[in-house]
Amino acid sequence: MQLDDLYRRVIMDHYKNPRNRGKFEDDAVTIDLNNPTCGDRISLQMKVEDGIVKDAKYTGEGCSISMSSASMMTDAVKGKTLEEALELASKFSCLMQGEDVEFEEYEDIEALSGVNKFPARIKCATLAWNALRKGIDDTE
Ligand code: FES
Ligand code: FES
Repeated sequence: MQLDDLYRRVIMDHYKNPRNRGKFEDDAVTIDLNNPTCGDRISLQMKVEDGIVKDAKYTGEGCSISMSSASMMTDAVKGKTLEEALELASKFSCLMQGEDVEFEEYEDIEALSGVNKFPARIKCATLAWNALRKGIDDTE
């Protein structure tokens, strides 16, 4: 797989220095999801108060694309309303379909745009976002 060098660096930075990796000690919305094609998994946790994602963390095992995507996603949704978080998830789907999407506040996510030509990798990159959508469904 050929990804632009800058994009590759951003992805590897999130993989090696994950943001928000861990678990909450107390109650949180928890979503466990597998990528059925490889068996890799993510456990996403969110603290939701008054319709706002106050905090988010994740644990899991997977490839650099899946784990870096979880790192970026959890950073991006913190402080967002559930509606804004869903909008971000929709934007991410567009990015994975090859659209030219900008994530103004969190441009690291754009580093994943290069995976859109690789269907198996799209599943890796989308795992965390699917967990987010499920978590939002569960809170409503
Ligand atoms: Fe979202 Fe085209 S605008 S996929
Ligand atoms: Fe399993 Fe990427 S290979 S999530």
